Amino acid sequence: MLSSQDTDSSIRQTDTDAALARFSAVQKGYLQDPYIKPFVPRSHLQPPRPPLINIGTFVRATAIDDLVFQWLQNSTNQGTRCQIVSLGAGSDTRFWRIATGAHKDALAAYVELDFPEITTKKAMAIRKSKELSAVLGSPADVAVAHGGTGLTSPTYHLIAADLRLPPADTLARLLAAEGSPILSPTLPTLLLFECVLVYMSPAASSAVLQWFRDYFAPARSAVLGSIVYEMFRLQDSFGRVMVENLKARQVSLPGAAPYPDAASLPGRFLNLGFTAAHALTLKEIRKSYIPPAELERISHLELVDELEELDLVLEHYAITWGLFVPPSVAGSAAADGWSQWGLSAKKVSEPVDEDE
Ligand SMILES: C[S@@+](CC[C@H](N)C(=O)[O-])C[C@H]1O[C@@H](n2cnc3c(N)ncnc32)[C@H](O)[C@@H]1O
Repeated sequence: MLSSQDTDSSIRQTDTDAALARFSAVQKGYLQDPYIKPFVPRSHLQPPRPPLINIGTFVRATAIDDLVFQWLQNSTNQGTRCQIVSLGAGSDTRFWRIATGAHKDALAAYVELDFPEITTKKAMAIRKSKELSAVLGSPADVAVAHGGTGLTSPTYHLIAADLRLPPADTLARLLAAEGSPILSPTLPTLLLFECVLVYMSPAASSAVLQWFRDYFAPARSAVLGSIVYEMFRLQDSFGRVMVENLKARQVSLPGAAPYPDAASLPGRFLNLGFTAAHALTLKEIRKSYIPPAELERISHLELVDELEELDLVLEHYAITWGLFVPPSVAGSAAADGWSQWGLSAKKVSEPVDEDE
């Protein structure tokens, strides 16, 4: 019988996999990310990932970047700044890419949450790297927080938390403490869950989403958006193999149980009273939601002859996004602007076979 310590350490290990996958996609030319290297220990020794993994990483990153940049752009269009909270952020570099990019002025706060073991390691990597720490502000503005498990700076906050604990004991205390809240309930706020909720029970995930929805609810004046990326459809034969492979590494995926097919995915948000929700599989996104010029560019990077297998992998991963517009905002011009938020097709889909 495995202790919860063992299984938690296997879950934390998935961050190394995610960072290595991103590093590989960058090395092979799929993505650009000048900030990933300090987060990949002994990066020169890391072998590249197979082409299928690189393409999956590219599709996922391109689509999530699209949604995040639309959020930043929309906030700017509405004359406001916004907040982003990345839950289970691991070694993600998105904050640095935004803070040094065209939309840097749109960001009022960027918060990252993860287990203390991960945030401690990340805080050390940031402090060790001149490139990473310079983006946070002048040294006087950056402070180590919570006994070395976190960092605070004018915009960026790295915070240790176990997302399975009741949000009243964690999120409320860490993000919304009276007198010094990190998050303002009056700014458009985007939640990112990249491959994290799948490791938690559906009840614990709902509690996290509900806490955020309530923080931005009726009396408040800001919209809440959320993006979830993870595996689903694990009941079919390919899905069962994925589950078995992860089980062998002591990782289980309780969060995937309510999502046997693509139609079930938006329910994650709609069942909690979100105003709108949509989901697309990575297979659909690759076919129709990536700029054709980008698809053409990456087609020259590596030889891929297992296209059927690629589709099979990609149809077991999805991006779901949900929007909560509080009643006080509904019906306004701002609400109209936010209702456009989402991925849109970049080209006409090729006909999909009936049996796909
Ligand atoms: C697959 S990694 C993804 C990292 C990052 N979001 C990305 O996409 O590159 C999953 C992350 O979620 C974190 N995580 C999983 N369960 C968590 C929990 N209950 N509380 C806090 N973090 C958790 C893990 O520690 C790990 O860093």
